Amino acid sequence: MSKKRVMSGMRPTGSLHLGNYFGALENWVKLQDEYDCFYSIVDWHALTTAYEDTSNIKENIFEIAIDWLSAGLDPDKCTIYIQSSIKEIAELHLILSMIVPLSWLERCPTYKDQLNQLKDKHIATYGFLGYPCLQAADILICNAQLVPVGEDQLPHLELSREIVRRFNYLYGEVFNEPQAILNEVKVLPGLDGRKMSKSYQNTITLSDSPEDIKNKVKVMVTDPARIRKTDPGHPSVCSVYAFHKVFSDKDIDTIKEQCTKGAIGCVQCKKMLADNMIKYLEPIYTKRKEIEQKPYYVREVLENGTKKATKIAKHTMGKVREAVKINI
Ligand code: TRP
Ligand code: SF4
Repeated sequence: MSKKRVMSGMRPTGSLHLGNYFGALENWVKLQDEYDCFYSIVDWHALTTAYEDTSNIKENIFEIAIDWLSAGLDPDKCTIYIQSSIKEIAELHLILSMIVPLSWLERCPTYKDQLNQLKDKHIATYGFLGYPCLQAADILICNAQLVPVGEDQLPHLELSREIVRRFNYLYGEVFNEPQAILNEVKVLPGLDGRKMSKSYQNTITLSDSPEDIKNKVKVMVTDPARIRKTDPGHPSVCSVYAFHKVFSDKDIDTIKEQCTKGAIGCVQCKKMLADNMIKYLEPIYTKRKEIEQKPYYVREVLENGTKKATKIAKHTMGKVREAVKINI
């Protein structure tokens, strides 16, 4: 039996941080061994919130491609491409936009939230309302069965499924109903204890060097109740401990016990964390340095990915045009 097809995407909005890595990319890397995976750098989606200043998009596309490749996406196992190089996605989006009721888009929770949150950005546009419709086009253009996403994306996926049902009902069975695979999430707070987010400037990125990691761990917030080394600590409120849970598997019980008893100081505890993080992340960093030595490599990967994705996209659009009866 042929492998099931997986599709997912990320907007090119700057270098990925560890939250992005553990929230999505790490899962993508695992999936490529088992499935026929299509991973798209969704630059049209980035336009929905960045249309006023597009100066960084090109650079961000290459940045994210390097992040993906250094984190272990392997172009021999998966297909990596830029959304805007597959024009068929735009055509499919247009056709889907004809059949998606406005009410489905307007009631989408991400739409309402973002309108509220990004008030100063003038994002109340036609394209922004249609964001989930474009996402459906991404998924359906390669007729993917499985879509690895975070929980926040479930409403979009449900909308894709509804669009599929409506399309198939109107024009005949063309598409699969895509299923979400929920990414297994490891939650990492930011350096300051808030959610890790670029806008808070509290991230550790995949491109940080071992030296950067050491320095960032040094400034991480710990349990504020600990002033002296002998003060009993509360690992559950400490960011360093939250990181240990991800990076220091086998030492985790000892750290908890020693912190709670006041037997280990935060400086030492951080040193252990930095060492473990560097051990874990060094292969990614080394791979990045290798890729940076070969300037044409990333372009080549994207070109090959585009070729593969285009072939499938053309096939899908052939079926769509025929079903909708707009091919002459
Ligand atoms: N909306 C997704 C996000 O912000 C990105 C995305 C665009 C996507 N197209 C997709 C995810 C298709 C999965 C499948 O995370
Ligand atoms: Fe956090 Fe470690 Fe300090 Fe405990 S010893 S408060 S876990 S940094």
